[in-house]
Amino acid sequence: ALPAKVKIVEVGPRDGLQNEKTVVPTEAKIHLINMLSESGLPVIEATSFVSPKWVPQMADQVEVMKGISKKPGVSYPVLTPNLKGFQAALNAGASEVAIFGAASELFSKKNINCSVEESLQRFEEVMKAAKEAAVPVRGYVSCVVGCPYEGQVAPKKVAQVAKRLYSMGCYEISLGDTIGVGTPGSMTKMLEAVSKEVPVSALAVHCHDTYGQALANILIALQMGISVVDSSVAGLGGCPYAQGASGNVATEDVVYMLHGLGIQTGVELSKLMDAGAFICRTLNRKTSSKVAQATCKL
Ligand code: HMG
Ligand code: MG
Repeated sequence: ALPAKVKIVEVGPRDGLQNEKTVVPTEAKIHLINMLSESGLPVIEATSFVSPKWVPQMADQVEVMKGISKKPGVSYPVLTPNLKGFQAALNAGASEVAIFGAASELFSKKNINCSVEESLQRFEEVMKAAKEAAVPVRGYVSCVVGCPYEGQVAPKKVAQVAKRLYSMGCYEISLGDTIGVGTPGSMTKMLEAVSKEVPVSALAVHCHDTYGQALANILIALQMGISVVDSSVAGLGGCPYAQGASGNVATEDVVYMLHGLGIQTGVELSKLMDAGAFICRTLNRKTSSKVAQATCKL
């Protein structure tokens, strides 16, 4: 049976913008996050506390965190790869963080410059500090069906990493199809393996739409009982360490599909589309959301 309600985790301000070549003004990021808050989204991933040498676009993380209007009831998690990032996030007023690992060794090396095992040890340190500060931690696993450097990824490997993150205390595990190569076939196999190790109620899916499979993959996840979906307004995004990774599935399209299935999201589609139109104007680009394209009056 499909869930009655789905929690959408909006990752546009982070995953959507991290790969932009030209620097997006901090004010525009803040305005985007505020517009997204107004649309009824419950979770908006705001920025990352990563090295500015690695991801220059996120170098204004402190200003973004201090500049946004935090709407009561909305959470604004940020990415923290290590203790340094965690402490900086806390100082900037973050009240929720995410650690991000991978099911592929080469991707881990390229993305966070360490092996999967080393990353899990770093995450343990972050987790310990987060527990002391009573900060909830979300865990990401990247490359859950395919890796830009290693090709296919074994479902067993994904399940192992997801289990480790869950065991160390992550309240939710987001399964990332980083390069959008998954199909309903490979997603099913991967989700079956992971759900043997982590309760379905603690799983989220994070689909990039590179091969146009994202909505189909999300529907598979919903049918398996998963009720948390990551997406990016206007379909922005891509990981700088995964060449060819196009945007996340567009939030507008996810909302349209969920509402069509009679599933509640709490999101007001028209306000969400306003946020999408705003960021596309700012970036001077066309939206990747099919729903926004279909209803565009220009
Ligand atoms: P490193 O070079 O191995 O780090 O990078 P280090 O510990 O050796 O330190 C080197 C320098 O970085 C030092 O500065 C540190 O202070 C600094 P220096 O002495 O040279 O001036 N440093 C930091 N600065 C700011 N914030 C920090 C931090 N840590 C160290 N937290 C590191 C390791 C993890 C920092 C680096 O590899 C990094 O920042 N990687 C982030 C990559 C990233 O953000 N990728 C995109 C997000 S993941 C993604 O998109 C996938 C996802 O969407 C899911 C999916 O789609 O699959 C989540
Ligand atoms: Mg991503």
